This record gives sequence, C-alpha cells and structure tokens, in this order.
Amino acid sequence: MPITRRQQYKPIKVPTMNIPMAANFILQRQSTPAKYHAEPAPEGEHLDLILRAAMSAPDHGNMRPWRFLLVRGAALARLGDLFAEGFTRRNPSASAELIERERSKPTRSPLLILLIASPQPNPKVPEWEQMMSLGAAAEHMQLMAQALGYGSIWLSGERCQDRWLLEQLGLQASEKLYGYLAMGTPTEDCTAKRRADAWSVTQDWPG
Ligand SMILES: Cc1cc2nc3c(=O)[nH]c(=O)nc-3n(C[C@H](O)[C@H](O)[C@H](O)COP(=O)(O)O)c2cc1C
Repeated sequence: MPITRRQQYKPIKVPTMNIPMAANFILQRQSTPAKYHAEPAPEGEHLDLILRAAMSAPDHGNMRPWRFLLVRGAALARLGDLFAEGFTRRNPSASAELIERERSKPTRSPLLILLIASPQPNPKVPEWEQMMSLGAAAEHMQLMAQALGYGSIWLSGERCQDRWLLEQLGLQASEKLYGYLAMGTPTEDCTAKRRADAWSVTQDWPG
C-alpha cells in the first residue's frame, strides 16, 4: 500500500530492542581526545564527505554564515608557532614550559578544521541563529568523521578570542573563530560513554 504524506511524517516510534543502525550511531557519537589522534587524517573522498556533511546543517535563509580553514601537514607546526606567539603576547610572563605546551597543541592531530563564523546582516536571521547553524554544521562534520572511522574533538580556548592571532589567520574583523575540529585516526576506542537521561531536561508543557 503506498505511504500517504500523513503517514510518512508520523513520528517514528523507535523499538527499544531494535534501534536502526543510523539511530544507534547517533546515540554513540563521542569525541576522541587529540592525544589519541594518529595518521592518516581524512583526505580525498573522506574529507569531501566530511565537508559536505556540514552543508546539510539547518541554515535559516540558506546563508552558510561560515567558512572553514584546513590545517594539515607542515601548516600544523606553523599554526603551533602562531599559537605560541599569541600566548606569549597575552601572557608576557608565561613560563617556557607553558609556551611550548601551547605550541604543541595543533600538532597533536593530523588535521584541524578551523570553524570560522562569517555572520552577515539579515533582518530575518539574527546572528545567534547563524551561529547555531555553524554549530550544527560542525557536529555534522563530527558525525560524518566518526561514520568514516575517524576520531574528532571540538576545541577552542582563549586563543579563539585573540584578534592578533585571528588576523594572522586571515580572518576579517567581522569574523570569529568558533574553535576547531581536531581529527585523526583513533588509537583508542573511546566509545560507550554514559550519557545523561534526556528526560531530566525534558518536560511536557502542560498548556
Ligand atoms: C564550542 C565548543 C568548544 C569546546 N572547546 C573545548 C576545549 O577547548 N577543550 C576541551 O577539552 N573540550 C572542548 N569542548 C568539548 C569537547 O569537544 C567534547 O564535546 C567534550 O570533551 C565532551 O565529549 P563528548 O563530545 O564525547 O561528549 C568544546 C565543545 C564545544 C561545543
């Protein structure tokens, strides 16, 4: 019997003991700390799929108020030098140990995807909606990376607000860095995380 439009959009009741594979996959999304990222990084068709996943994020007005910068290969160490210089500028009395720690951060993973917010004025789409859209795009990329067997983690830190550093990276004054996704091939299985009960943050509105 053909499915009517009404039936098609009925909420799906997921059976507890037989969760479809894709649903189960979403439930098992988790980050992989950068110390467990090894070569190879996603590249070629895999990288293309990860970037395409971002483009199916919900996006009011189809504005795509973001852009991405890939950092890989020799550029990782160069970014580390910029991190270290920015850190020293922000913390002139920092110890050599802390500066070197900051320098080492980008080189822990073979690929970084810098998440650049490029908000555009739009009377119907306030900036917060545009930023939510970037958040969804980032998580789509993490999900796709995991589906392809890679580990990833979304990282940020005070460096993301450092205008000097952002200028070195070529960001416009109107742009912001909303962190970066660090990715690689996982050396540890970080799955099976316990998650909070969804019903502890969900209620029926009594009307
Ligand atoms: C915008 C954003 C920035 C984040 N920045 C950091 C960070 O700088 N350092 C960190 O350890 N985790 C950071 N996290 C959290 C991790 O990406 C990750 O979500 C967290 O470790 C929980 O792990 P899970 O994703 O497996 O639940 C950030 C998450 C978001 C959404």
